[in-house]
Amino acid sequence: NPATVKLRSAESDEPGTRVRVLGRVHRMRAQKDYVFITLTDGYGYLQCILTGDMVKTFDIMTLTLETSMAIHGEMRAVPAKQHAPNDRELHADYFTIIGRAAGDKEAITTRVAPDADPQTLYDNRHLVLRGETSSSVMKVRAATLRAFRKAFEGHRMLEVSPPAMVQTQVEGGSTLFGFDYYGENAYLTQSSQLYLETCLPSLGDVFCVCPSFRAEKSLTRRHLSEYTHIEAELDFITFTDLLDHLEEMICSVIDHVLAEPEIAGYIKQLNPDFKPPSRPFRRMKYDDAIQWLIEHEIPNEEGQPHKFGDDIAEAAERRMTDIINQPIFLTHFPAEIKAFYMKKDPEDRRVTESVDVLMPGVGEIVGGSMRMDDWDELMNAYKHEGMDPKPYYWYTDQRKYGTSPHGGYGLGLERFLAWLCARYTVRDCSLYPRYTGRCTP
Ligand code: 4AD
Ligand code: MG
Repeated sequence: NPATVKLRSAESDEPGTRVRVLGRVHRMRAQKDYVFITLTDGYGYLQCILTGDMVKTFDIMTLTLETSMAIHGEMRAVPAKQHAPNDRELHADYFTIIGRAAGDKEAITTRVAPDADPQTLYDNRHLVLRGETSSSVMKVRAATLRAFRKAFEGHRMLEVSPPAMVQTQVEGGSTLFGFDYYGENAYLTQSSQLYLETCLPSLGDVFCVCPSFRAEKSLTRRHLSEYTHIEAELDFITFTDLLDHLEEMICSVIDHVLAEPEIAGYIKQLNPDFKPPSRPFRRMKYDDAIQWLIEHEIPNEEGQPHKFGDDIAEAAERRMTDIINQPIFLTHFPAEIKAFYMKKDPEDRRVTESVDVLMPGVGEIVGGSMRMDDWDELMNAYKHEGMDPKPYYWYTDQRKYGTSPHGGYGLGLERFLAWLCARYTVRDCSLYPRYTGRCTP
């Protein structure tokens, strides 16, 4: 009996090697005396050619896409112009059917009709994932997580696992998902930032990769109700250190990802125009962005010219980013439109030491800032926001027991991927996206 191999390794087997492969029918093409089957097992694709009596069997004549099967045979070299993966194919001499596929959803699994109803596709996400595009995005996603962990490791930062069930808010009360926790009110976390801050004295610089939850009321192409949040916190730094670190992180993650040939290939297919961003990133103060928007006659949400203090809404932000067409560090947002914990700029107390990283096609992918490290100032901030400081005692204590200048950021993995893989919506960068009205499958 020949050795059973995964398809990615079968591709590079020497001609003449006998193998047994297991997988599902991804594509097939029948001619009079031949049947070509492209088999996939999630690792790769292999073209298999069946001839002779095999093509006259009932199993092959009624074969449906996604049917799982075993094929035995010999690896052969084929001319490059046949476009077989790695110019190899399997010349079959024996096969068995393992699980026949119903065959009624072939349009969804392999050849998604361009006009397919998006709701039908999201209902069938479990099958859509089998398609080449979705599975490539998921592989780039996994590689991106590997790359982030490697880049954090390079900075000697430690991964921690903060809780998802919490009794505090981070990014404002309006997007909290609440639930009953043994008779008490609790929430699904919006961000692990406050917990990361508490780790600095014991562990040094830390990061986490955790789900964050936001009850976003509006349906947009870049908001999920549950997303993967990559967050980091750095101790004894300045705001400039934070920006430099962020730039270095983003660039080394891209380098790591592109260093994997298989992954670089997927990115090339998904986003043929992708070029790693060049350094240094453009740094732009919020105030200058407002001027830029006025000059380019891009109105605010009320349809009026932008003015200092306006939130730069998604549409305006995206237009600006698309026109500038390179990564932007947008810094120094007014305190009034930002979260309670952000440190004020000592040179202009109206604004904060804050940064959003904006990418073409998506807009904001990162939010970060220096944190208020003074106890009195933080107490005033709770008051200003109308927040009860009591549940935050553990966060406030950080300022009482050896405070430090520190800061960090959170990056939305799905947004990063939407940029890297040129996807229209972050939903396509999530395994099973959750957004307003959808919690299935
Ligand atoms: O800008 P945000 O709200 O910042 C924070 O949560 C900080 N506490 C992070 C920190 O400093 N540790 O969120 C950070 C990032 C955004 O830039 C965006 O990429 C992503 O999280 N994000 C979302 N992604 C998908 N769906 C949503 N509803 C998101 N909300 C935020
Ligand atoms: Mg933000």
